[in-house]
Amino acid sequence: MAGRHGTEYWRLAGIALPALLLGALLGMPGWGLALGLLAYLIYHLRNLARLRDWLDNHHQAEPPEAGGLWGEVFNHIHHLQQRNKKQKRKLANALSRFQQVATALPDATIILRETGEIEWCNEAAKRLLGLRTPQDIGNHITNLIRTPAFFHYLNHEDFSEPLEMPSPVNSDINLAIRVIPYGRSLRLMLARDMTRVQRLEQTRRVFVANVSHELRTPLTVINGYLESLADSEEAVLRPWRKPLQQMQQQAKRMARIVDELLSLSRLETKPPPLLEKAVAIPALLANLKEEARILSGERKHDIRFEVDESLWLKGAADELESAFSNLLSNAIRYTPAGGRIEVRWYQDDTGAHFEVQDSGVGIASEDIPKLTERFYRVDIARSRATGGTGLGLAIVKHVVNRHGASLRIESTVGEGSLFACDFPSRLVSRAVTKAAALS
Ligand SMILES: Nc1ncnc2c1ncn2[C@@H]1O[C@H](COP(=O)(O)OP(=O)(O)O)[C@@H](O)[C@H]1O
Ligand SMILES: [Mg+2]
Repeated sequence: MAGRHGTEYWRLAGIALPALLLGALLGMPGWGLALGLLAYLIYHLRNLARLRDWLDNHHQAEPPEAGGLWGEVFNHIHHLQQRNKKQKRKLANALSRFQQVATALPDATIILRETGEIEWCNEAAKRLLGLRTPQDIGNHITNLIRTPAFFHYLNHEDFSEPLEMPSPVNSDINLAIRVIPYGRSLRLMLARDMTRVQRLEQTRRVFVANVSHELRTPLTVINGYLESLADSEEAVLRPWRKPLQQMQQQAKRMARIVDELLSLSRLETKPPPLLEKAVAIPALLANLKEEARILSGERKHDIRFEVDESLWLKGAADELESAFSNLLSNAIRYTPAGGRIEVRWYQDDTGAHFEVQDSGVGIASEDIPKLTERFYRVDIARSRATGGTGLGLAIVKHVVNRHGASLRIESTVGEGSLFACDFPSRLVSRAVTKAAALS
């Protein structure tokens, strides 16, 4: 740095000193110095003007010729310009590669500004959502997709679950819409055609329902014969007693699986319950109490019920009964003899709650999220031994979802589990108790 400044000082000295000397010779040293400095100033102004001209003129690639400090400034700027150009080219290439990929994506892909205007969209977005380019670029997305559900989804800011809705251009196409916020304020919106997946899902459902249905009749026949054979006192059958018992046990288990598969497919295909008619949950629980005692049998669990007797719930009675009974039977089956089981039915600020707490074997935390998958069992042998099918909690989950409720599971291995159904307040209905009606 010092060297460069040095050259510049020499230049100043080289102009100013001779001018000063010349002035002194002529008897006007002041004027001489002033003229010298003026010349120096003009030199700089000229270079500054050249710099401006050069920067103004974008097409002219080469910097103007100059020595000393100015030459270095020109070269430096030139270097920066070149580097900038290279980076721009690289960026443009990357961008165009990305756009090529995004354009070819089968999912509709739209880049939205924070305020909701469309910044860019791909081919699939035109096909699936009916967007047009360039007309729609810069338009607000809700001006183009006018479904209330979509408007609500976009403004709700909760994008954890996709929104399913028919395509605005073709109602036969079902779309799953996702919004992913990224960068400082942009949002990526994806819409996937779910028609095929849903058709497959539908086919699967119908298939399972058909198979279960078809298996039911033969199983009933087999069960019937097995039962009479097992009951028979004939001497020839005596050696067969044990195998017959086992066959009967397994056939019963199969019948139970078939029944539960049918219940599941009904829950999947039936429209959700209307949630208008209030169900007398306390009466339903009184029945379950009896069932629980029978199921516990010899094992004599300490089963307690704590029930708000006037708390009713809007929903489907048969579904709620099957869910509650599943949870209770699990508690009994996965709790050793003499264990404690508490059933609670109460209301608080957040809504109505059905809880079953046991002092049983408990569940490891990594298994908890998988419990509601079909046929998922932590311990298959234990589940089978107690007559389990692995479908109970899948049924519970469906029922709970269909009531706009959620299933809460807390557990510690070796200490016990808590299974709770949390129903929203809007489903709560208060029965007019006899006492209240009389007063
Ligand atoms: N109260 C509970 N305590 C411990 N484990 C449980 C309890 N309830 C359910 N589970 C576990 O969850 C699995 C799935 O339950 P479920 O779907 O009802 O099937 P299953 O027919 O086996 O009871 C069970 O196999 C068991 O491992
Ligand atoms: Mg079960």
